[in-house]
Amino acid sequence: MRVTVSRKAHFNAAHRLYRKDWSMEKNDAVFGKCNNPNFHGHNYELTVSVTGEIDQKTGYVIDTKILADLIKEHIENTFDHKNLNLDVPEFADLNPTAENIVVVIWQKLRKYIDANKDLEIILYETPRNFVTYNGN
Ligand code: NI
Repeated sequence: MRVTVSRKAHFNAAHRLYRKDWSMEKNDAVFGKCNNPNFHGHNYELTVSVTGEIDQKTGYVIDTKILADLIKEHIENTFDHKNLNLDVPEFADLNPTAENIVVVIWQKLRKYIDANKDLEIILYETPRNFVTYNGN
């Protein structure tokens, strides 16, 4: 029996969407208000889901305390109250769109999840806009 265990988390962060190699006009045309040079913030919400077999000894797929600690250490401590463009090395040359952020989060957590388990991340940038990545 494969069961999915999910943990919710959140972080607040600032970002700016733009390309250094495009003019201000082109960045404005493509990214609009998200290209504000003084940055803007979001309250990001995420759901981290791990799918796998139930361990017959513990009854767990993954201990939610372990999952919570992984998210705290590797995601919240890295992103919360940060400027994604300036403070997070992964976005030095990568536009911090929700799409790119969810892939970075997945890559950061994947190495700590057993290989025989699946990992999926849902990231809400606003209550209505969210993205999903599962490694495919
Ligand atoms: Ni934004």
